[in-house]
Amino acid sequence: ELSPIDKAKFVAAKRAVEFVEDGMRVGLGTGSTAAWMVRCLGEMVREDGLKIRGVPTSTRTAELAREVGIEVITLDEAGWLDVTIDGADEFDGKLNLIKGGGGALLQEKIVATASDQMIVIADVGKEVETLGAFPLPIEVIPFGWQTTKLLVEELLINMDVLGREVTQRMKGDEPFVTDEGNFILDLHLGRIGNPHQLSMVLNQMPGVVENGLFIDICDIVVLGYGDGRVETRD
Ligand code: A5P
Repeated sequence: ELSPIDKAKFVAAKRAVEFVEDGMRVGLGTGSTAAWMVRCLGEMVREDGLKIRGVPTSTRTAELAREVGIEVITLDEAGWLDVTIDGADEFDGKLNLIKGGGGALLQEKIVATASDQMIVIADVGKEVETLGAFPLPIEVIPFGWQTTKLLVEELLINMDVLGREVTQRMKGDEPFVTDEGNFILDLHLGRIGNPHQLSMVLNQMPGVVENGLFIDICDIVVLGYGDGRVETRD
């Protein structure tokens, strides 16, 4: 028996894979919700003969995809994608997102941007009025990262946010390292008044590779509930 939260993630994933058709090149997201989607697609490949090629957004997802029988190719081999299905940490009424709770935001954003359509799968807890309660991850180059952190803190003074604490993401006693060999800073903002502006300003800073705000990228959110209900937002 699945817990209500896992049930919500599963039913959202199950509904979202209905968008996938034979011959498609599919971006495969990262995280616990996306993992359900990869398993569902694997089942369709093994049992219904669905023919797809998948572009994973992390080494974790690549391993899972191969394990369940999905043909894995790189984004460069694919060139462009028909659809990407991924989870999110938060989404708002405009379908803007915070992603990167799992640390894969850079590849996730590259892959989602290279897709005709991005579908987000989420449990009901991810829907918010205003983004920012979930700490916003940014991926930074290890070289001079402490200086980058200071500059980000300074930049936040002029932004429409509530909180301004910045922390380095850790894995035990060591810094968390992304698939690209970078560090993650988590920005504890509480409330992001102008996500579009914040995203642009952050990405202009040297040392910042990418931030976890996905603005105007997501087309549809498939929302799962603990009782098995599913709603879509578009
Ligand atoms: C991974 O880097 C993230 O962007 C995930 O998509 C996000 O954290 C959602 O993860 P869950 O599905 O595990 O909540």
